[in-house]
Amino acid sequence: MPSFRKSSFGSRITGHSGIRDLMVDIGEARSAAGKEAIMMGGGNPAHIPEVQLIWRERLQALLDPPHEIDSVLVDYDGPAGNSRFLEAIAAFFNREFGWNISAKNVAVTNGGQTAFFFLLNLLAGRRDDGSDSHILLPLMPEYIGYADQSIDANLFVAKQPKIELIGDHQFKYHIDFDALEITDQTAAVCVSRPTNPSSNVLTDDEIARLSDLTREAGIPLIIDNAYGAPFPGVVFEEVKPIWDEHIILTLSLSKLGLPGIRTGIVIAQEDIIESLTTMTAIIGLANTNVGQAIVTPLVESGEILDISRDLIRPYYEKRSQHAIELLDEHLPADLPWRVHKSEGAFFVWLWFADLPISTKELYQRLKARKTFIVPGEYFFYGLKTEDWPHSRECIRLSFTQPAAVLEKGIRILGEEIRRAYENE
Ligand SMILES: Cc1ncc(COP(=O)(O)O)c(C=O)c1O
Repeated sequence: MPSFRKSSFGSRITGHSGIRDLMVDIGEARSAAGKEAIMMGGGNPAHIPEVQLIWRERLQALLDPPHEIDSVLVDYDGPAGNSRFLEAIAAFFNREFGWNISAKNVAVTNGGQTAFFFLLNLLAGRRDDGSDSHILLPLMPEYIGYADQSIDANLFVAKQPKIELIGDHQFKYHIDFDALEITDQTAAVCVSRPTNPSSNVLTDDEIARLSDLTREAGIPLIIDNAYGAPFPGVVFEEVKPIWDEHIILTLSLSKLGLPGIRTGIVIAQEDIIESLTTMTAIIGLANTNVGQAIVTPLVESGEILDISRDLIRPYYEKRSQHAIELLDEHLPADLPWRVHKSEGAFFVWLWFADLPISTKELYQRLKARKTFIVPGEYFFYGLKTEDWPHSRECIRLSFTQPAAVLEKGIRILGEEIRRAYENE
């Protein structure tokens, strides 16, 4: 049977996309064959036993009398989210960080990913007057998951960062503020913090400058806090969570170890929240509420901060240090590799200057050895300068796997890197 004709949106959203490849790899890792693979690809959280115990206890509490689970399973929530959860989130940020928000500044979405589909298309694309507007990404590489979300084509304008070289084998990105240009066509500025893929954490100063620029221009600054402070808190630098009327802050329960319950949280001015609420109602009626039910008491008590600070952050910080040690041990010291300063999230971001093969080819060679990484090409989009060799010389590697698996994977990577540079 021939395939049916598609709309242009249908063709675009079903065309080739990096995030699809990544999620397919993650899904395959759960199959029997996949369990033998060395998965350093996707952004799956680690299985942290102390944290998993907390989720099991919370699930048990929902099952125990008075059987709160019954209402969780049987009743739809309103499209903004569960009202007790929304109140708890607003009270948490007011109490802990002195903000002045209410439940009307909070909306739940079906994961952070869906929040971005809503926000990016709500703000940018074709306007009523026929002009096009874009999202400015001030520091490329940026999260692969935004790249293919546009209903209209070409949603992004991105900027190259300044690169600081540190020692022989490290580097760090900085925003090139001189290159940033906010025009009438700029609908919003968007950053992930920590940044997926590079693990770069924009400093408080960089965020303050972006906030000033966007406030003055009368446009939103979207801060994607999927890994950030205060929860899940996978950030190894001291940073201050901020919010203001023009800031749209997105959070997620996924990187706390709950990606299966698909819960994203958006904190924004009321107008944005109302728009998201309408979009949820139209597209999905309501959100999944199990995740909200699991974490509400932990948000009310503030325990979510202790979990993030005492269990989650130290776990990943240790893993990140271990990954760096393994890179030093297994990547050839005489070759020009560099790792981005590891400041948060679940990844190390490697740069192989003048790599003779593309990182997509490197991906294929590693895959043939059952070792999965993510080729860096996917994380560079919206750039005007198409030919930036750096964009073909980086890979992302997740360090959430058990230590022995990571060691094996990085050893294989070291061998393949040697082979690539020596043109074998
Ligand atoms: C930077 C960033 N933003 C958003 C998301 C979306 O996550 P979720 O939809 O599970 O909340 C991810 C997931 O990996 C991410 O890395």
